[in-house]
Amino acid sequence: MGFISTFETHFFYMSVHKEIKKVTTHTLIEMKMRGEKISMLTAYDFSMAKIFDAAKIDVLLVGDSASNVMHGHETTLPITLDEMISHAAAVIRAVTRALVVVDLPFGSYQGNSKEALNSAIRIMKEAEAHAVKLEGGEEVAESVKRILTAGIPVMGHLGLTPQSIYKFGTYEVRAKEEAEAQKLLHDAKMLEEAGCFAIVLEKIPSQLAKQVAQMVKIPVIGIGAGAEVDGQVLVSHDMLGINKDFSPKFLRRYLNLYDQIQGAVEQYIADVKSVDFPNEKEQY
Ligand code: KIV
Repeated sequence: MGFISTFETHFFYMSVHKEIKKVTTHTLIEMKMRGEKISMLTAYDFSMAKIFDAAKIDVLLVGDSASNVMHGHETTLPITLDEMISHAAAVIRAVTRALVVVDLPFGSYQGNSKEALNSAIRIMKEAEAHAVKLEGGEEVAESVKRILTAGIPVMGHLGLTPQSIYKFGTYEVRAKEEAEAQKLLHDAKMLEEAGCFAIVLEKIPSQLAKQVAQMVKIPVIGIGAGAEVDGQVLVSHDMLGINKDFSPKFLRRYLNLYDQIQGAVEQYIADVKSVDFPNEKEQY
């Protein structure tokens, strides 16, 4: 029974979804047009990126959430452009299929559009990334346009934009009030018209996210933005349960790796102490 349902699910998947050799920004727009949802996860290192790519994830985001989950900072603000490039280069070396998008970190694009372009060029040149992402709407319009003039694809990010956490003061749901919702709609339209190939919407009411996804032709990828968008993104450490301290309502945990890894390490320590490891077969 288990086999049949798995087989049927696979058959349905294969008949509805086109086999994709390499995901590009155009692939994502085509996926939106034919109603196929886009899967996106964060990745920060070679080994994880290799597994995610083998699983056929559509987009890997080298997110500035690396600041939290890889570097242990409380916010995304401290991570540097050099650190982001190092993570991105490792991910790119692992990937054969997924589109790799890299976050422009805080302080690398807000100054002016020339600084934004220089930062984006460094990411594309030094990490050989496929696209960049930056947070904000009207405030970053000029930078988005300038990066695009260099032929660098840009993904927008609206709603809860963690680089502005000290302005927001909380990680609560954004755009619940009419004025903020109207600004978000305006910003989404502006990002589309400027030439962004996709937009991430983070932690906003699902009805508003649905409205944005229907309003723009480019894919809208949600995180805590409901099901009626064109795709979903999660921070991999959260969905794999490596990070146990973060449990927002929108998160689905697929594994409990923290406990599993701790258990394995405890077993290893016990085996070393008791000289159970290495055994006869595990030595030369
Ligand atoms: O940095 C990140 O992980 C992100 C996602 C939350 C979209 O921007």
